[in-house]
Amino acid sequence: MTAKVALVTGGGSGIGRAISHRLAADGYATAVLDLNAASAKTVVEEILENGYTAAAFGDVDVSDRSQVDAAVESVRDSLGAVSVLVNNAGITGFKKFGHITDEVWERTLAINLSGPFYACQAVVPDMTKAGWGRIVNISSSSAQGGQQFMTHYVASKAGLVGFTKSLALELGPSGITVNTIPPGFVDTPMLRGSERDGLLGGSVDEHADRTPVRRAGKPEDIAAACSFLCSEEAGYITGQIIGVNGGRNT
Ligand SMILES: NC(=O)c1ccc[n+]([C@@H]2O[C@H](COP(=O)([O-])OP(=O)(O)OC[C@H]3O[C@@H](n4cnc5c(N)ncnc54)[C@H](O)[C@@H]3O)[C@@H](O)[C@H]2O)c1
Repeated sequence: MTAKVALVTGGGSGIGRAISHRLAADGYATAVLDLNAASAKTVVEEILENGYTAAAFGDVDVSDRSQVDAAVESVRDSLGAVSVLVNNAGITGFKKFGHITDEVWERTLAINLSGPFYACQAVVPDMTKAGWGRIVNISSSSAQGGQQFMTHYVASKAGLVGFTKSLALELGPSGITVNTIPPGFVDTPMLRGSERDGLLGGSVDEHADRTPVRRAGKPEDIAAACSFLCSEEAGYITGQIIGVNGGRNT
């Protein structure tokens, strides 16, 4: 059997990097897509050094449909039809509600919500043709409980949860599952950037001390759940929110 192809958006850093490594180790030819070409290339070099298959697709902005379509076409040409899509690329943001400009609102929704929309529309024909597919959308635990000063971000991620549930109903008959993992407090460059900017309401360590499992999440925690959701044996799980958050949200 030729290797199935997995496409990971935002695969150059943090959670996306760990998911790219994990799916490659699981046997997928892995397309690492990122706006940051250098980081996508670095992750692919790491994967190749480990003896697995991957290719980088850099300088791709998921908020631009034409760039997404062109990138998916390149993935098909170089690796093959896409079986697994992980919509992970995202941006965060902290602003008091009255200070959220139209530009910030629209950019956040464009990347965090329209990006998955474009990517799904680009790859679903491959999955439908194959009669098999796995889509995992990386949302956020903040969409479960809300988060002050993140109305725009949380709205985008809550939108992704509804998107997941609806698409799962539509694609189930075609053998395609669609689930969402809302990570909570995962130690990545995004989280450390928020800590550095004093936006977390305490340090990462202080938050870890208040987390039921007494540690921050690791990108590999999300990758492990994602790997399971992409597996054959997860075929009866669709439209679900699989929280990976150390017990911070239940
Ligand atoms: N770290 C956490 O605690 C946490 C919590 C909840 C949700 N999340 C979500 O997990 C996902 C990954 O977050 P992370 O912490 O690994 O962040 P990160 O900043 O380390 O990585 C995000 C990656 O997405 C890429 N990216 C950003 N905008 C893009 C665009 N327009 N097109 C293509 N690629 C783009 C970046 O270049 C980067 O490589 C995000 O969707 C984030 O919202 C993270």
